[in-house]
Amino acid sequence: MTELEKEISRRRTFAIISHPDAGKTTLTEKLLLYGGAIAQAGAVKGKKNARHAVSDWMEIEKQRGISVTSSVMQFQYKGSCINILDTPGHQDFSEDTYRTLMAADSAVMVIDASKGVENQTRKLFKVCAMRHIPIFTFINKLDREARNSFDLTQEIEEELGIPTCPVNWAIGSGKDFKGVYDRLSRRVIYFDPTGGAHKVSASKADLNDPSLSEILGEENYLTLKDDIELLDGASEELDLDAVHEGRLSPVFFGSALTNFGVEPFLEQFLAMTPPPMPRSSSEGEIDPFSPDFSAFVFKIQANMNKAHRDRITFLRVCSGRFDREMDVLHVQSGKKMRLSQPQQIMAQEREIIDEAYAGDIIGVFDPGIFSIGDTICSPKKKFKFEGIPTFAPEHFKRYRSKDTMKRKQFVKGITQIAQEGAIQIFREPFTGMEEIIVGVVGALQFDVFEYRMKNEYGVEMNADGLSYSFIRWIESSPCDCKDLKLSSDTKLVSDLKDNPLLLFTSEWNIRWALERNEGLKLEEFSKE
Ligand code: G4P
Repeated sequence: MTELEKEISRRRTFAIISHPDAGKTTLTEKLLLYGGAIAQAGAVKGKKNARHAVSDWMEIEKQRGISVTSSVMQFQYKGSCINILDTPGHQDFSEDTYRTLMAADSAVMVIDASKGVENQTRKLFKVCAMRHIPIFTFINKLDREARNSFDLTQEIEEELGIPTCPVNWAIGSGKDFKGVYDRLSRRVIYFDPTGGAHKVSASKADLNDPSLSEILGEENYLTLKDDIELLDGASEELDLDAVHEGRLSPVFFGSALTNFGVEPFLEQFLAMTPPPMPRSSSEGEIDPFSPDFSAFVFKIQANMNKAHRDRITFLRVCSGRFDREMDVLHVQSGKKMRLSQPQQIMAQEREIIDEAYAGDIIGVFDPGIFSIGDTICSPKKKFKFEGIPTFAPEHFKRYRSKDTMKRKQFVKGITQIAQEGAIQIFREPFTGMEEIIVGVVGALQFDVFEYRMKNEYGVEMNADGLSYSFIRWIESSPCDCKDLKLSSDTKLVSDLKDNPLLLFTSEWNIRWALERNEGLKLEEFSKE
């Protein structure tokens, strides 16, 4: 194996997805703990405050004490080089969260064991499922009262439409949560509580070990034996091909807070999740192990440092090795260039890097030439990676400039910000650019947009909130779009590229439109 092949095959690049509060941050931190990247858990927890000191990024980030950016955390674990992509949740949930998933080779879906599948889990799952990437399930918070494990896996299968295969199984729950049963090695792994700040010590025993009844408690032990018998008879086989194609989700149980089950999960997840996978392009699939460097842009962070008006573009390396001194081709503009100040952005620090390999994420300074989805590759090659879809916004406002004299700046600002992918803009039929409908995935994007319009383009705006929550691209229509039969609160609009779309106030209205207009085809994502 060459050095290049060795480096690429040890990389694992994934995103952790969850509904807010299911434990994504805690699990990420514990993975860093087991990878030795942090000595003690608790360090990441304070990040919301610590960020003020280290970040000179957008003013709004400082004001609100939140992260508007998504970053990547890299660490090593037993020979693997792991890149965890941060998918912003909570108030900073945005279209970037979805786009980040385009850069991941797999996803870990964290589910709260007392709540099951929640709203944001569904949305993020859908985006992962669209790409057919492997999705691993970590059922978290077993140290609290949890729902029955069979019910939870059944809910995942029914709600998300993906078969599951428990790789391990919880032993007890709440105060009585003792550990997990590993179905592959057929051994019980039980833990000694440490409070969670440090690694937890684990012991292993055969399921028939006579001392287990005492260690686990008789009731837990008997239930476990029954459960395992049931599982062995009824659950899906662990078919790795199905896992890799996103047709089967391996399930793990644990508690990120107490570390119970975290390491067994990490080890088996790393063994099952694939190294960087080939990506589709205009020239067919691009092999990650090809020596020629290639990458695509999945995120642009504007004006991180206001004084320099710079932008940082985040690239996912898809093949070969990146070298700081190398010349690359920006395919969309046809320009040959050197990437300026390539850096890896770890939770809070930025570090200039000399090299990176397929699977890695790098940030580069962008003089304003890159767009979301662009391809950057070795000048020897010329191809375009498949574009990043546009995701359906869920919040809409109609904006106009307060000062009519500033119409030009208004149009310029709103168009540029939309081109960057920070917002989506829509026009109503027969209207000019005086009033524009802005759509966003997460409401925070409105704040960032308004802030940037004022600070970068000097435009203050009036906004009307709109009650639409759903948007669909019209794939095909049986008639001229303006003749479609629609409910009175459905609106026809067009996007930047003049594609027709419909804005709906409810899912019921979407069904209504489909029923009344035979042949109408609507899409939730727009693929360029
Ligand atoms: P998120 O990133 O998915 O939004 O979730 P996060 O990790 O921030 O966790 C949300 C809350 O759930 C936190 O509590 C966290 O401590 C708790 N939590 C995470 N994993 C577990 C677990 O395995 N067991 C239990 N019992 N709790 C867990 P908080 O009260 O909001 O914050 P804090 O006061 O603990 O800092």
